[in-house]
Amino acid sequence: MTVGFVQDTPPDPIRFAYWVPNVSGGLVISKIPQRTSWDADYNRRLAQIAEESGFDYALTQIRFTAGYGAEYQHESVAFSHALLAATSRLKVIAALLPGPWHPTLAAKQIATISQLTNGRIAVNIVSGWFSGEFRAIGEPWLDHDERYRRSEEFIRSLRGIWTQDNFTFRGDFYRYTDYTLKPKPADPLPEIFQGGSSRAARDMAARVSDWYFTNGNTPENIRAQVDDIRAKAAETGNRPRIGVNAFVIARDTEEEARAVLQEIIENADPDAVKAFGHEVKNAGKASPEGEGNWAKSSFNDLVQYNDGFKTNLIGTPDQIAERILALKDAGADLALLAFLHFQEEVAYFGTHVIPRVRALEAARESRAEAA
Ligand SMILES: Cc1cc2nc3c(=O)[nH]c(=O)nc-3n(C[C@H](O)[C@H](O)[C@H](O)COP(=O)(O)O)c2cc1C
Repeated sequence: MTVGFVQDTPPDPIRFAYWVPNVSGGLVISKIPQRTSWDADYNRRLAQIAEESGFDYALTQIRFTAGYGAEYQHESVAFSHALLAATSRLKVIAALLPGPWHPTLAAKQIATISQLTNGRIAVNIVSGWFSGEFRAIGEPWLDHDERYRRSEEFIRSLRGIWTQDNFTFRGDFYRYTDYTLKPKPADPLPEIFQGGSSRAARDMAARVSDWYFTNGNTPENIRAQVDDIRAKAAETGNRPRIGVNAFVIARDTEEEARAVLQEIIENADPDAVKAFGHEVKNAGKASPEGEGNWAKSSFNDLVQYNDGFKTNLIGTPDQIAERILALKDAGADLALLAFLHFQEEVAYFGTHVIPRVRALEAARESRAEAA
């Protein structure tokens, strides 16, 4: 399906990222058997498979406590470095949570990893959804929009420290006076991603982020977010790129793929899904416009942490490739993907889906040249 936004199609090939399963239980809140593991050896091998398969980025997750089946969680920055050490081209995006992290430590730590890995580290600034986690570690739980105000200052601090000598900044959360970090990160500078789709999240993306990550959605809804962010960003001169979450179930037939989705949902842990739904909807309550990431999520949507079923990358490789092009037409620069059995399915995606996407992109380009 294409949705008629071809005139704005980003010219670059769409990029692929995968969620690093550094948290136990995989990326669905379901008791369906998964061959995915959260351990280091599994993840190092997965990162190698991903870079051989045509993935550009891996996104690690930050979590401080268990919840909804995610009993074990490896820390994101340390884990990212282990994946970088096991690979040679892949970029790894480490998640940072303002509050537990201070920008001074984050800037220094990431600059060193950047130096150690020829600039293959990036960061995802997350603003928090899990109030129980904040309570457990004694961190104040700010209102929704205050969390974003802090995240924006965090990003401005990181960028200032990484690009300026004698950095001086007067924020409400962070302050710097004539601060010079040496060494600075390697070239290219770590890209700054962010997660969230509320008004506050979009405005922050428009002002300061390199990348905006949003939950799974239809091309029409992605387009609306892209237009909204681009209109605001035009005022500041920033041009954030857009990453869209999706849970991929690629099988040789559509029936097989749909059956897997059915099985994941039938095996969902209802108490855990409801508790997760309660937590995330509550986290967005203070977002005045009510457009946050999970504002409209149903029970079935919530079985995947970031509404990844909504993007509908579920079917045959041909169907999925067409739908990825529709996302690109809607303004997406990157597809952020999760899978049930990561190692096998990332390899399958690389063999069967990415070449189809590239062929569709090439066909489109040659049509455009001929016109
Ligand atoms: C792709 C993506 C990745 C995220 N990763 C994390 C994470 O690792 N840890 C975390 O606490 N929150 C994570 N978040 C949550 C966001 O930072 C944000 O708090 C949440 O999406 C609320 O968004 P809202 O502004 O739309 O209400 C992620 C969100 C997205 C979209």
